[in-house]
Amino acid sequence: MKQKIQISPSMMCADPFALREVLDTFEKGGIEWLHIDVMDGRYVPNFTLGPDYCRSLAAATSIPLDIHLMVEEPDRHVELFAKFPGARVSFHPETVRQPVRLIERIRELGASPGIALDPAMSVQVCSHLLPLVDQVVIMTVNPGYAGQKLLPFCLEKITECRAFLKSCGRHADVQVDGNVSWENIPRMVAAGANILVAGTSSLFVKGRVADSELARMRELGA
Ligand code: DX5
Ligand code: ZN
Repeated sequence: MKQKIQISPSMMCADPFALREVLDTFEKGGIEWLHIDVMDGRYVPNFTLGPDYCRSLAAATSIPLDIHLMVEEPDRHVELFAKFPGARVSFHPETVRQPVRLIERIRELGASPGIALDPAMSVQVCSHLLPLVDQVVIMTVNPGYAGQKLLPFCLEKITECRAFLKSCGRHADVQVDGNVSWENIPRMVAAGANILVAGTSSLFVKGRVADSELARMRELGA
């Protein structure tokens, strides 16, 4: 069963002074998720959005939050993020001692769990986790910054992940995150991705989004 392509705009790329305008465009365009990159300066050498930003967004729009924890010890912080209605919370398994326990905890808190694979993390190493989650984030750039270039070897991981999920009868979402550009989208969708994290490579131009760009992405992903 082919999954409909969903769009999860990377909100770290949005101009904070244009946020209401950007959210209106997304609501009008039927955007399925808002991708929130949370960075702690430890797992990745950068700091970005946090729980207060999530709280403001959740109060301003009904689009659910797709929270990507690029942090060490996410088990210590998960309560801050899992409480938003309809939230999805993805973490990098190498950042926590007991990833299965954290997946269970995210569900207990009422959120939808995902795992995120850094470019160096193989699908095979995560084979016991993949059947337990609702989403697998395949990072196609090194985590931490917008505006980076695709690491081509990561495309194969999308295919491997989709094939593994199929082999265990799971229909989890496969999300691609990083340099999701107009040029790369066809290859990413063909490889098996069904959620696109759209950042500066596609949707956002100087922190803003044009309706036409959303329509263009929908056509590419269809
Ligand atoms: C990378 C971020 C992404 C993305 C931003 O750590 O998680 O959100 O790269 O979009 P691009 O890559 O298009 O600037
Ligand atoms: Zn991300």
